[in-house]
Amino acid sequence: MPQRNILLIVSGGIAAYKSLDLIRNLRKQGDCVRVVLTAGGEKFVTPLSVSALSGTAAYTDMWSLKDETEMGHIRLTREADAIIVAPATANLIAKTACGIADDLASTLLLATRKDTPVLFAPAMNTAMWENPVTQENIEKLKARGIRMIGPETGDMACGESGPGRMSEPETLLKALNALLGSGPLRGLSAIVTSGPTFEPIDPVRFIGNRASGKQGHALAAALATQGAAVTLVTGPVSLPDPAGCATVHIETAAEMKNAVCAAMPCDIAVCAAAVADWRPEHSANQKIKKTEGEPPAPVTLTENPDILAEISRSKNRPKLVIGFSLETQDLVENANIKRRRKGCDWILANSVHANADTNDTPVFGADSNTVYLITETNQELWPEMSKTKIAEALVARMIKTLRPQADGA
Ligand code: C5P
Repeated sequence: MPQRNILLIVSGGIAAYKSLDLIRNLRKQGDCVRVVLTAGGEKFVTPLSVSALSGTAAYTDMWSLKDETEMGHIRLTREADAIIVAPATANLIAKTACGIADDLASTLLLATRKDTPVLFAPAMNTAMWENPVTQENIEKLKARGIRMIGPETGDMACGESGPGRMSEPETLLKALNALLGSGPLRGLSAIVTSGPTFEPIDPVRFIGNRASGKQGHALAAALATQGAAVTLVTGPVSLPDPAGCATVHIETAAEMKNAVCAAMPCDIAVCAAAVADWRPEHSANQKIKKTEGEPPAPVTLTENPDILAEISRSKNRPKLVIGFSLETQDLVENANIKRRRKGCDWILANSVHANADTNDTPVFGADSNTVYLITETNQELWPEMSKTKIAEALVARMIKTLRPQADGA
């Protein structure tokens, strides 16, 4: 991988200490890191520690003659392959949204060309984050193509709790790698479906299921981390959009199918969504009234499109099509039948219980799972592991199959 220039802007938040780790991790993977500290950032981490870790000077001042002659401030953005603002305070977010350029960091952000990827990692008190003005600013930045990673929810340094914590350095690193499309799957595109679908009965009621989207979202993130250009098509879930993926939100199977078709062709398709097999034939325009003493009106169901089967049989069939299968009995045998019926290459089969031995944890919403990987020639039982680990292992297998020369790199 050629050396990349990463410009890191550290603004004034307690999370700034995590950015030191980010510098270390970026250097470790061979990146050149230039760091700009705002006046607030300098209160939390010193230029000395930043330059010791980055191996270059820390830039703090717009008007430093020495910095300007050695490295003009516009050059700092022009030479950057990507810019990451971590932590991004409410103040710097607001300034960037309005185009204010009153210090080195905000000036650089205003001077950044559209084709330079920019990632913000917001970190602030929960009330500041939830304030509508911050949310409006975030939406403005997103609309201009700036990617957001986090904030995460948890305990805050100020003693309060809620959304506002900066994402961990490891998460930021993955998001940055995904944004830059580096990794062995670079140049390949992937579509991932995730979550449940909701099929409306009337404007307030629907048929749905318990899928959490954890496995599908983890797969989309793992594919993006390895450099694939990922479109994630997801039903309603309470998970954040994974960094570095183009995420499309849908509700019904029909909408999922349309979004998948719009994103085709692709090299890899992973159907992890729990698509409702049936939908009400008619969805009422008004809420269906309960009439005293009368039985409820029957709901007639009709079959939904099978997205996985349609992808497998499409003219532009992806190189690799992967489905999921949830079974309550004869897991492997039924999954294999399903693999052939749907025409996909691999199936990841899981039981309704996340733990194959104890049968006590329902898999819906669980963080771990026990699965079989079933291919045309093979069936393997994978020991219980987290859904993130399953995603990473499955993506490693995809790399082995699609990019054997990159495997083991
Ligand atoms: O038929 P069953 O729902 O068990 O199949 C599971 C697999 O098929 C999953 O990969 C799921 O995402 C996919 N599927 C689909 N469209 C449907 C039903 C299932 O893509 N309508």
